[in-house]
Amino acid sequence: MKIALVGGTGDIGMGFAMRWGQKHEIIIGSRSAEKARESASAMMQLLGAAGNIQGSDNASAICSADVVVLCVPYEHLAYVTSGLRDAYNNQLIISPVVPMAYNGKFFLYQPPSEGSAALQARSLLPQGVKVVSAFHTICASALQDIDRVMKADVFICGDDAQAIDITMQLAGEIKSLRPLKAGPLAVSSMVESLTPFLLNVARKNKIKDAGIAVVSERLIKNIN
Ligand SMILES: NC(=O)c1ccc[n+]([C@@H]2O[C@H](COP(=O)([O-])OP(=O)(O)OC[C@H]3O[C@@H](n4cnc5c(N)ncnc54)[C@H](OP(=O)(O)O)[C@@H]3O)[C@@H](O)[C@H]2O)c1
Repeated sequence: MKIALVGGTGDIGMGFAMRWGQKHEIIIGSRSAEKARESASAMMQLLGAAGNIQGSDNASAICSADVVVLCVPYEHLAYVTSGLRDAYNNQLIISPVVPMAYNGKFFLYQPPSEGSAALQARSLLPQGVKVVSAFHTICASALQDIDRVMKADVFICGDDAQAIDITMQLAGEIKSLRPLKAGPLAVSSMVESLTPFLLNVARKNKIKDAGIAVVSERLIKNIN
């Protein structure tokens, strides 16, 4: 697949590029094509000859991709959706975007009036693109460390079965992450809000690179 990582010069974008860069064609997008190329070349050095990562400006990256991942902070969601509207043409759009704030003591989920970042993205994008919400609770620094075996689950919300399947496939390609269907895009707020929850738990309990995994009590009982 040809995957554009919009704002892919940042933390989560670099994580996706490192994890998918040996199997797919990755285009790092940035407001600055030069910054994107520098970032792509740094990641290529880490991945070696098997890597396939290029850099370009965000609009060119989106235009040529099958899948677009919105790797920007919530504050810039409008810019990479409605602001680059003409670049979209029926791609699958994956949103890991979490609208949240820190009040100096703890993190809070702060959804827009649409209900969630994913629903807002869909409202700002042209008809025809399929929006899937995923990867909100996956730690970027763990993703970037290609040798790290992650134990977390990836919760995926969407309304299109094929788009969900492709996202499940991409999540499942990352060493030991388990993709789980979480419902339609209408419930994306529930998944997005897990990120500030997770960050609060991690801070209070000093857990580094925290993630979330759903356990089956039945399985645990059998093991014991
Ligand atoms: N970090 C995590 O562990 C993590 C985990 C799960 C989900 N997420 C979600 O993933 C998204 C990205 O997080 P991140 O930590 O990777 O963000 P980040 O590193 O802070 O920023 C990502 C990129 O956003 C672009 N950007 C900055 N200002 C911009 C502007 N004014 N307009 C357009 N683009 C701008 C920058 O790219 P250029 O300067 O190259 O344009 C930057 O490299 C967020 O919505 C976050 O909630 C993050």
